[in-house]
Amino acid sequence: MTKKLNIGIIFGGKSGEHEVSLMSAASVMRAMDREKYNIIPIGITNEGSWMLYNGPIEKIESGEWEGISNKLLQEDPQHSVFTVIPMGNEPSQAIVPGIPPYLGEQIDVIFPVLHGPYGEDGTIQGLLEMADIPYVGAGVLASAVGMDKIYSKRIFEMVGLPMGKYMLVMRKKLRENPQVYVEMIEENFSYPVFIKPANLGSSVGISKARNQEELLKGLQAAARHDRKILVEEFIACRELECAVLGNDEPKASVVGEIIPSHEFYDYEAKYFDDGKSKMIIPADIPAEKAMEIREMAIKAYKAIDCSGLARVDFFMEKETMKIYINEINTMPGFTKYSMYPLLWDAAGLPYPQLIDQLIQLAVERHQDK
Ligand SMILES: Nc1ncnc2c1ncn2[C@@H]1O[C@H](COP(=O)(O)OP(=O)(O)O)[C@@H](O)[C@H]1O
Ligand SMILES: [Mg+2]
Repeated sequence: MTKKLNIGIIFGGKSGEHEVSLMSAASVMRAMDREKYNIIPIGITNEGSWMLYNGPIEKIESGEWEGISNKLLQEDPQHSVFTVIPMGNEPSQAIVPGIPPYLGEQIDVIFPVLHGPYGEDGTIQGLLEMADIPYVGAGVLASAVGMDKIYSKRIFEMVGLPMGKYMLVMRKKLRENPQVYVEMIEENFSYPVFIKPANLGSSVGISKARNQEELLKGLQAAARHDRKILVEEFIACRELECAVLGNDEPKASVVGEIIPSHEFYDYEAKYFDDGKSKMIIPADIPAEKAMEIREMAIKAYKAIDCSGLARVDFFMEKETMKIYINEINTMPGFTKYSMYPLLWDAAGLPYPQLIDQLIQLAVERHQDK
């Protein structure tokens, strides 16, 4: 029998997508094959504390895990970064029952099921690189570029991927003189426009402005989240998504369509509308359009030097059927019912096997270094 792998599942995190991560991580843990893996759940609180958790999975989703976890990192992280060790003066009391078998054991692979800043942006990936531990998903560079909507657009432009018109607004300059930007935007775009913080996800801080008043409000709202703001022309479109999996020879899944319940796919529509937003898999589009999207998805993936997984999102202009790239997500929503796993399921790769492959890819990438 091969040795069981110790898999650290990191969830929560210091981002606006903390709750989404709890759902994704709980789903991953439920699906993982316990014959192959020991699961070591590691939560990061909203405040940034790392906690070792050993309770029921439901309490991850409900948020109750925080109250029944043990702080994992000492003030001096050298002692403990990724080895599970007892904390406090009386380890027997400090540790939740069930954890001791793992004490002192090395974690073999980390699956950072974290979305957004500090999870999907290269920061935790950098920490894991330094700790020399294999981890699921994209490396530092791809994560950072994928998170930054401005930089990913610049890279996509370099490889000739089509995209809508956009403009970068710097918060500092905006605050000094908002009128200059309003004029510049009105000269270059017609309403409505989309306004987004450069570095968030899950539609946090995003708005659609139909006039000057909404533009100013939207810019200010985005400026609360980021020092870089993106303004984009509005595209009347269908939203299509493609899943990519692999390291040096990535494969693209079938294409799926999102039909948002709200005017656009905002935070509420994504996570709290009780399934009124619809996912259609495979999308009802002509075969050559699906092929074009799959090729573009792989091109985008390679352009940012991605590995592991990513979901690449597209807009298909309703009138012309022209495809534009919107964004790449290096740690897409990962519950059993999220688009990424469902796209692979439709391609013949069920959720538990998808997780196996991601762990395998993490090990391969680490060996390849
Ligand atoms: N330029 C655009 N034209 C039309 N709709 C857009 C545009 N940009 C964003 N949207 C809408 O807003 C949603 C969120 O924007 P997106 O750039 O995907 O941000 P996030 O990273 O938060 O998912 C999209 O899914 C889409 O519904
Ligand atoms: Mg999106």
